[in-house]
Amino acid sequence: MFPKLAAATAVAVAATTALAAAKCKTPDQCTGTTVPSQIRLAYAGDKGVAVSWNTGSKLTNPTVYFGKDKKLNRIAQSQVSTTYATSSTYNNHVVIDGLEADTTYYYKPNCGSETYTFTTSRRAGDDTPFSFAMIGDMGTFGPDGLGTTVGKGGANPLKPGDLTTIQSLSSFKDKYDFIWHGKSPRFGDIAYADSWLKEEKAGYITPLNTTDRGAVYDRILNEFYDEVEELSKTKPYMVGPGNHEANCDNGSDLSLCLPGQLNFTGYRHHWNMPSTPSGGVENFWYSFDHGMVHFVMLNTETDFPNAPDEPNGEGAENAGPFAPSGAQLAWLKKDLASVDRKKTPWVVAAGHRPWYVSTSACTECRAAFEPILLEHGVDLVLHGHKHFYERHAAVANGVAQEITANPTAPWYVVNGAAGHYDGLDVPTTPYVSTSREVIVAYGWNLFTVHNCTHLSTSFISSSNNTVLDTATLIKDRKCHGGKGEDGKGNH
Ligand SMILES: *[C@@H]1O[C@H](CO)[C@@H](O)[C@H](O)[C@H]1NC(C)=O
Ligand SMILES: *[C@@H]1O[C@H](CO)[C@@H](O)[C@H](O)[C@H]1NC(C)=O
Ligand SMILES: *[C@@H]1O[C@H](CO)[C@@H](O)[C@H](O)[C@H]1NC(C)=O
Ligand SMILES: *[C@@H]1O[C@H](CO)[C@@H](O)[C@H](O)[C@H]1NC(C)=O
Ligand SMILES: *[C@@H]1O[C@H](CO)[C@@H](O)[C@H](O)[C@H]1NC(C)=O
Repeated sequence: MFPKLAAATAVAVAATTALAAAKCKTPDQCTGTTVPSQIRLAYAGDKGVAVSWNTGSKLTNPTVYFGKDKKLNRIAQSQVSTTYATSSTYNNHVVIDGLEADTTYYYKPNCGSETYTFTTSRRAGDDTPFSFAMIGDMGTFGPDGLGTTVGKGGANPLKPGDLTTIQSLSSFKDKYDFIWHGKSPRFGDIAYADSWLKEEKAGYITPLNTTDRGAVYDRILNEFYDEVEELSKTKPYMVGPGNHEANCDNGSDLSLCLPGQLNFTGYRHHWNMPSTPSGGVENFWYSFDHGMVHFVMLNTETDFPNAPDEPNGEGAENAGPFAPSGAQLAWLKKDLASVDRKKTPWVVAAGHRPWYVSTSACTECRAAFEPILLEHGVDLVLHGHKHFYERHAAVANGVAQEITANPTAPWYVVNGAAGHYDGLDVPTTPYVSTSREVIVAYGWNLFTVHNCTHLSTSFISSSNNTVLDTATLIKDRKCHGGKGEDGKGNH
């Protein structure tokens, strides 16, 4: 049984006093296997931040010390420390609640040696301009993934001196508030540890050894979380599901499928997205507000009619469902209907598989989601899955509207080009009629929300930090926002 990730309540008193008053449980004793690694953050409602990290052993009382200064005089705890078959580590999750909006806190998981910072989300209605980073389909970099050489089934190795997408994102860290890996943050497709079999068969990594196969998958996954920690320990790293979180046959040998590789197991354990505050389901679908934007994560893999990863879908993933039939789309309608556009004039949705793209498209996804996104005036839709960058027009039912002409339909941007073992995809020519720019290079997008009428993006080449494309969506509407009476959007 997968344990429900419970929110922990922050106790707003000095840690030592709290412990003495027995309000808190005793934090785990520090040993070699309780040292935190792979620290990752997520927004958790408008007053919370989820802190997750891994340890070599199960923790009894996962504990985070935090505060507005380095004294870290507050404490948050949970009892959530989970693992799964073939995993060598435990996933610990604590939600810190009762925080102030747009405020920087210092924090440290118990037994950590370093103190880091996070900044909470901007309150809905705060009209301060901000940026967020978007990446799709990012795998492990280095000798077990995308490196400067390539094995069979791989392509487009890095050139000597090229920055990886993680390094490029890291060099722009002051420019964005959070990372949206639609697979999202990769709008799905995180780590590509499922490539282990393909890479072994290609002789790219350890020769195929059918008795240690779980260990190689686990190793690649751990390398990914180690690498991404550079970003995820200081920036909320918001993720969505992609097919590679459920693939088990990449290498074409179903007999080698691993329990930890099936049915989004590792993905469910590793992350703690804000589905509880937004009425969503686990890390599969959820929403959150940040300043002028309401962000929505969709699950294009399971839980809608003919979903591609479900047992009778188009893929071999054989995953889900994760909620009763109809739950995701009913949630989406309700979530979008409840948006206060005076506070969050922009609505941005992300989902792994694209339906407007110059290669095979997810027609089932389009049938399920497009009518709802159109009905509720969603402004921007972000996709990954295809390993190139393709900026489209705004599109309604296949008909393009230009983004500078006050479109009524969502603007579509596809970027699954963060980089992984397989390299880049070749788009099909001629490009679809909604396509406006195609770039086949590793890269990520920096989105900037300027005000209630202008939202722009830059596609940045990871290899050299060069901007290769820019575009701005312009809406003709009246802005209501403001910093609010307390200067932080509190009206
Ligand atoms: C295969 O993996 C097992 C388990 O890790 C290990 O004991 C064995 O030595 C490996 N065999 C080879 C040929 O590497
Ligand atoms: C294996 O991975 C590749 C690259 O991501 C993907 O295109 C392909 O669909 C996968 N194969 C299967 C059977 O899942
Ligand atoms: C995947 O996991 C969910 C949740 O535990 C379960 O309901 C579903 O039956 C599983 N799907 C498959 C194909 O094993
Ligand atoms: C909104 O931002 C854009 C881009 O920075 C700017 O050109 C425009 O004048 C702004 N509009 C208002 C009303 O401030
Ligand atoms: C940066 O990288 C992109 C993509 O590989 C390439 O097209 C471009 O020429 C490079 N620019 C510079 C200044 O090196």
